[in-house]
Amino acid sequence: MKVTVVGAGAVGATCADNIARKELADELVLLDIKEGFAEGKATDMMQTATLLGFDTKIVGVTGDYSKTEGSDVVVITSGLPRKPGMTREDLIGINAGIVKSVAENILKFSPQAIIIVISNPMDTMTYLALKSLGLPKNQIIGMGGTLDSSRFKYYLSQALKCNPNDLQGFVIGGHGDTTMIPLTRLATYQSLPVSNLLDQSILDKVAADTMVGGATLTGLIGTSAWYAPGAAGAALVEAIIRDEKKLFTCSVLLEGEYGQSDICLGVPVIIGRGGCEKIMDFNLTDHEQVAFNKSADAVRNMNAVLTEMNLI
Ligand code: LAC
Repeated sequence: MKVTVVGAGAVGATCADNIARKELADELVLLDIKEGFAEGKATDMMQTATLLGFDTKIVGVTGDYSKTEGSDVVVITSGLPRKPGMTREDLIGINAGIVKSVAENILKFSPQAIIIVISNPMDTMTYLALKSLGLPKNQIIGMGGTLDSSRFKYYLSQALKCNPNDLQGFVIGGHGDTTMIPLTRLATYQSLPVSNLLDQSILDKVAADTMVGGATLTGLIGTSAWYAPGAAGAALVEAIIRDEKKLFTCSVLLEGEYGQSDICLGVPVIIGRGGCEKIMDFNLTDHEQVAFNKSADAVRNMNAVLTEMNLI
């Protein structure tokens, strides 16, 4: 199997590191536009191989997409990360042009690849990739909800003082501070609804903390987080390569599901060798559906910028 990660910044490099450690690929290409940057990071990672015991071959390249030829999975992390005080949406002006050109270059050499989009604003960048490449919708997957759901389980585990691996929980909607929807109603500790264990006020705080989870870290670190975003990308690569048929929430094209069309938004999906193999219906309550529609309105407004920029 061959995997490419585009963008050797903190998120891309962490994603590549996880993919190598899990031995998901025989060949892993790390590509960046900054001269020598990906080569340096790839070599640094290769020098951990005998320490960590993996045998993935990691190749760093500067802007040479021919080296990505025949990739089975491609992860796009290119673009600027946010700085404290910025929303993900503030990045559209710079990142949209970058993501479009990366996606087009990927298509030239790997038309069959499943493409995972991490760049922000993630739902709009996923929509941009889908619209500009014209690939089947199962091949284009936005990572956001996978990360947000992991953060949700982290905050739940803190509130419950439990092992996060005993929790199930999903965040749907947009990957934005005000657009994501942690589904507290459906979150469980083993099979017990967390609402049996936590007061509503605590659950509300868990949901609120989850929604600004990325912004909180950006405030602390001074730039976007990378360990969990990189690991979330690698978890999706793993589900695809190993054909795991696992349930994640990802941003995918909706064609009537959840009452929405012509938009990429976070919903529960089955991820396997075919990419997004199925969209699951979680039967939202009226209240959740209202929140989902509001989230869709906000993402649709952001998508309109792509038309204004003549990108789609
Ligand atoms: C975050 C960025 C990667 O949520 O979107 O940390």
